[in-house]
Amino acid sequence: MAVLELRQISKSFGVIRALEAVELKVDTGKVVGLMGDNGAGKSTP
Ligand SMILES: Nc1ncnc2c1ncn2[C@@H]1O[C@H](COP(=O)(O)OP(=O)(O)OP(=O)(O)O)[C@@H](O)[C@H]1O
Ligand SMILES: [Mg+2]
Repeated sequence: MAVLELRQISKSFGVIRALEAVELKVDTGKVVGLMGDNGAGKSTP
Protein backbone atom coordinates (compact mmCIF):
# COMPACT_ATOMS: atom_id res chain seq x y z
CA MET A 1 0.00 0.00 0.00
CA ALA A 2 1.28 3.47 -0.85
CA VAL A 3 1.74 5.94 2.02
CA LEU A 4 2.56 8.69 -0.49
CA GLU A 5 1.73 8.94 -4.16
CA LEU A 6 2.40 11.94 -6.39
CA ARG A 7 1.08 12.05 -9.94
CA GLN A 8 1.94 14.51 -12.69
CA ILE A 9 3.38 17.11 -10.32
CA SER A 10 4.72 20.23 -12.01
CA LYS A 11 6.11 23.32 -10.33
CA SER A 12 7.55 26.54 -11.70
CA PHE A 13 9.25 29.47 -10.00
CA GLY A 14 8.67 32.20 -12.56
CA VAL A 15 10.44 31.05 -15.72
CA ILE A 16 12.28 28.27 -13.83
CA ARG A 17 10.61 24.92 -14.49
CA ALA A 18 11.59 23.06 -11.29
CA LEU A 19 9.43 19.96 -11.84
CA GLU A 20 7.62 18.59 -14.87
CA ALA A 21 5.11 15.74 -14.61
CA VAL A 22 6.84 14.03 -11.67
CA GLU A 23 5.58 10.65 -10.51
CA LEU A 24 6.62 9.33 -7.07
CA LYS A 25 5.21 6.43 -5.08
CA VAL A 26 6.40 5.41 -1.61
CA ASP A 27 5.13 2.06 -0.35
CA THR A 28 4.71 1.00 3.27
CA GLY A 29 7.91 -0.45 4.71
CA LYS A 30 10.13 0.82 1.90
CA VAL A 31 13.01 3.27 2.21
CA VAL A 32 13.24 5.59 -0.78
CA GLY A 33 16.28 7.63 -1.77
CA LEU A 34 15.88 10.66 -4.00
CA MET A 35 19.06 11.47 -5.90
CA GLY A 36 19.96 14.16 -8.39
CA ASP A 37 22.23 17.07 -9.24
CA ASN A 38 22.16 20.31 -7.27
CA GLY A 39 19.06 22.20 -8.37
CA ALA A 40 17.50 19.12 -9.95
CA GLY A 41 14.28 19.61 -7.97
CA LYS A 42 14.64 17.10 -5.12
CA SER A 43 13.41 19.47 -2.39
CA THR A 44 10.59 21.09 -4.35
CA PRO A 45 7.88 18.36 -4.04
N1 LIG B 1 11.68 29.51 -3.71
C1 LIG B 1 12.26 29.43 -4.92
N2 LIG B 1 12.27 30.50 -5.75
C2 LIG B 1 12.82 30.43 -6.98
N3 LIG B 1 13.42 29.33 -7.49
C3 LIG B 1 13.45 28.25 -6.70
C4 LIG B 1 12.89 28.22 -5.39
N4 LIG B 1 13.06 26.99 -4.85
C5 LIG B 1 13.72 26.28 -5.78
N5 LIG B 1 13.96 27.02 -6.90
C6 LIG B 1 14.62 26.55 -8.13
O1 LIG B 1 13.99 25.35 -8.54
C7 LIG B 1 14.95 24.39 -8.98
C8 LIG B 1 14.89 23.16 -8.10
O2 LIG B 1 15.31 23.52 -6.79
P1 LIG B 1 15.38 22.46 -5.60
O3 LIG B 1 15.76 23.25 -4.38
O4 LIG B 1 14.13 21.62 -5.53
O5 LIG B 1 16.60 21.53 -6.06
P2 LIG B 1 17.39 20.42 -5.20
O6 LIG B 1 17.49 19.23 -6.09
O7 LIG B 1 16.74 20.22 -3.87
O8 LIG B 1 18.83 21.11 -5.03
P3 LIG B 1 19.97 20.91 -3.90
O9 LIG B 1 20.67 19.62 -4.21
O10 LIG B 1 20.85 22.10 -4.09
O11 LIG B 1 19.27 20.89 -2.55
C9 LIG B 1 16.31 25.12 -8.94
O12 LIG B 1 16.53 25.66 -10.24
C10 LIG B 1 16.09 26.20 -7.90
O13 LIG B 1 16.93 27.32 -8.14
MG1 LIG C 1 17.43 20.41 -1.86
